[in-house]
Amino acid sequence: MFDALVKVMTGRRSIRKYLEKEIPREVLEGVINTALWAPSGMNRQDWEIVIVSGKTRENLAKIVSRSKKHILPHLEKLFPEKIIKISLQVFENFGGAPVVLLVYVPRDIPNISPEMNDVERYHTEFKRFNRLLSASALVQNLLLAAYAKGLGTCWMTGPKYMEEEINKLVGMEDRELVALIPIGYPDQSPPAPPRKPGVVKWITD
Ligand SMILES: Cc1cc2nc3c(=O)[nH]c(=O)nc-3n(C[C@H](O)[C@H](O)[C@H](O)COP(=O)(O)O)c2cc1C
Repeated sequence: MFDALVKVMTGRRSIRKYLEKEIPREVLEGVINTALWAPSGMNRQDWEIVIVSGKTRENLAKIVSRSKKHILPHLEKLFPEKIIKISLQVFENFGGAPVVLLVYVPRDIPNISPEMNDVERYHTEFKRFNRLLSASALVQNLLLAAYAKGLGTCWMTGPKYMEEEINKLVGMEDRELVALIPIGYPDQSPPAPPRKPGVVKWITD
């Protein structure tokens, strides 16, 4: 079982170019229903998934393409031009993905002030912190389950800049957008970006 999991966890890549091929409904349902087994803080399962295709997907793509100008300065600080070009592909019509999954949590954005001590701060941000982390576990499950079914995905937060318009388009009120995930059959097999060494600390006594 571990070997199969290793294959899925290490083989998954962010896909930014997709084939023009529909995803059978039962495949998509299988991926989503499996992903919903993600752990969640206090088992609240405070999440919702909106599945967008058709005309609304087209309108969503138009909104998302406008988030590029906000993302560009962040990318320019970190990456060379070639990588930036590749990264931005998915902001144009979701790289051709036929479906986009939107993951939401209830909107409850706390006021954190610098005077708060750690206990006060965590008490204030407790709900949002745990909801975002739980939704992230759901997102990762979605990516892995999709990959195991031969589908590509790309976890996107860049479009957060356009959240107000996106939420209006898909009719989500009083919700916070956690991630957009274009999903479809891949039209590329990108190389694995290397993983950072030196991030593990062992304490043995
Ligand atoms: C929280 C989060 C936000 C991300 N947002 C974007 C995004 O907006 N656009 C994008 O192209 N990729 C996005 N990615 C994908 C990362 O760029 C990608 O995971 C990373 O480069 C490693 O590549 P890999 O997924 O192929 O292993 C995001 C990933 C995470 C976890």
